Amino acid sequence: MTAAAHDLMTVASLTVDYRQQGQWHSVIRDLSLAVRRGEILGLAGESGCGKSTLASVLLGERRGERRLRAGSVQFDGIDLSTLRARELRRLRGVRLALVPQNGGASLTPTLRIGSLFAETLRAHRPHMNKAELAAEARRQLSQVGLPDPTGALARFPHQFSGGQQQRIALALALCRMPDLLILDEPTTGQDAMTRRGIIDLLIRLRLSSRMSMLYVSHDLATLSEICDRIAIMHAGEIVEIGQMEDVLLRPRHPYTRALVASIPRLEAPPDPALLPASRRTPERITA
Ligand SMILES: Nc1ncnc2c1ncn2[C@@H]1O[C@H](COP(=O)(O)OP(=O)(O)OP(=O)(O)O)[C@@H](O)[C@H]1O
Ligand SMILES: [Mg+2]
Repeated sequence: MTAAAHDLMTVASLTVDYRQQGQWHSVIRDLSLAVRRGEILGLAGESGCGKSTLASVLLGERRGERRLRAGSVQFDGIDLSTLRARELRRLRGVRLALVPQNGGASLTPTLRIGSLFAETLRAHRPHMNKAELAAEARRQLSQVGLPDPTGALARFPHQFSGGQQQRIALALALCRMPDLLILDEPTTGQDAMTRRGIIDLLIRLRLSSRMSMLYVSHDLATLSEICDRIAIMHAGEIVEIGQMEDVLLRPRHPYTRALVASIPRLEAPPDPALLPASRRTPERITA
């Protein structure tokens, strides 16, 4: 198989600028990257290094304050810059999906959750009647661990917490069964149990559907649980990319080394002097 055949999304020598006060500043510089078919690729890097910008560009989103100064983004051999707005919308509706970092903001505020699902599902399951659409929406919502999925369908987005809105956005993206799902910090703001549930769900989906995923996070510990490969981004560039274990065990770039060193290691016993008094082992008092 050639490299082109097993790559679903290819970014070549991409440079992206934002305009601020009339000046263009580059945020992504000469970046090349490929997401392979059926893999979960992690993208890690510090806050502000350009992860969400890259996620948005990969989705073909166009904004007045942003320009692609150089390079190209290809999805399954299609150069996104050559597509008209309508063609891009169709691609995004069916084959390409993003759960944005602020997932709640992507939910239309005036529509109840049931209508949001009906709208999305109707395009993908045109044969389903109303009851079947509601049943499928409930199934998707319980998959992401939302309590009371039936009640949830009648509520508006603002009646959920930020973490719950994020999970609703994830469920909506999943019901499209895209070929490539881009997840921007999908578990940030979720409690540990919910985070575990989402990670297990994504791993199951990857195994059962061969859906490709780009999982964006600054949390290397989470990425190490789910990703096949990982790309490390620093100041708008990819400084290292490789198999997850290789990068964790043998980080080559100094920034990657610092990132790996910062993963909390649960097996190391905490320094008792640093624990709050309430968690220190009480000293044994012997008579
Ligand atoms: N609309 C915009 N106009 C101007 N600059 C922007 C705009 N959006 C983002 N930037 C700048 O681009 C850089 C990258 O931002 P981006 O949101 O892609 O970072 P990130 O890696 O996703 O960070 P985080 O981990 O905090 O989500 C930042 O310096 C940011 O200030
Ligand atoms: Mg971001």
